[in-house]
Amino acid sequence: MITLRGVKKTFDGRVILRGVDLEIDEGGVTSLLGPSGSGKSTLLRCINGLERFDEGSIAVGDAVYRGGGHPDDPRAVAAIRRACGMVFQQFHLFAHLTAEENVALAPEVVAKLSRAAARDRARDLLEKVGLSSRAHALPRELSGGEQQRVAIARALAMEPRALLLDEPTSALDPERKGEVMDVLAALAEAGTTMVLVTHEPAFARALGGRVVVLRDGALAASDARSEPSPHRDPDADEHD
Ligand SMILES: Nc1ncnc2c1ncn2[C@@H]1O[C@H](COP(=O)(O)OP(=O)(O)OP(=O)(O)O)[C@@H](O)[C@H]1O
Ligand SMILES: [Mg+2]
Repeated sequence: MITLRGVKKTFDGRVILRGVDLEIDEGGVTSLLGPSGSGKSTLLRCINGLERFDEGSIAVGDAVYRGGGHPDDPRAVAAIRRACGMVFQQFHLFAHLTAEENVALAPEVVAKLSRAAARDRARDLLEKVGLSSRAHALPRELSGGEQQRVAIARALAMEPRALLLDEPTSALDPERKGEVMDVLAALAEAGTTMVLVTHEPAFARALGGRVVVLRDGALAASDARSEPSPHRDPDADEHD
């Protein structure tokens, strides 16, 4: 469903991605591991069109865009952004909007749902991430784990084909990590396509799916498959 072919990316002449090929199937979790600075966030940002790349191509469903700039790209990037919901390490909620308003914003403004329909969708999603009772709270009134769950609900609000998550639990203390993990595990079980950047092999194992490792700008030791581990311990690996 997401296909990367020969994706090359340089920053100021420094090669960050040296021709990455990756195939992400619908309905599975792909965990992306690798040392700090190896380009994991850059790769995720390229997939979502937040970062341009120099060579190669990225396709999400029918939308394809190419490195180096191409006249058709803006349309493809818009389609790809819509197809991929993004979740960031630092949540990035709108500070002046309540949880419900954060989630309802894109459905109302971008998908042109009525305000009532957008709010209904937001409430359903907040229920899904266990935050029905916090719908009217502002981000500053929410714990980190709650904020991240709102951000996940927001990423789901446009009914994306895939979720791209960049270290979604690394800014959280262990207890809060667990609640975000539980939400992601439920999404994985429901068949949500996810690409997850993490420093925690235990986290990747807990969600099951595929593990690929980015090292020196290329994918190494890829395609180890794992089943969700029944005794997950997301804190087993603390160096995140
Ligand atoms: N906008 C930018 N301009 C210049 N260099 C950048 C930019 N963004 C990232 N880089 C560099 O690209 C390299 C890869 O960065 P990236 O953030 O993708 O790594 P990462 O694997 O996500 O690391 P971490 O695990 O620490 O989050 C780093 O050397 C970084 O300094
Ligand atoms: Mg990163």
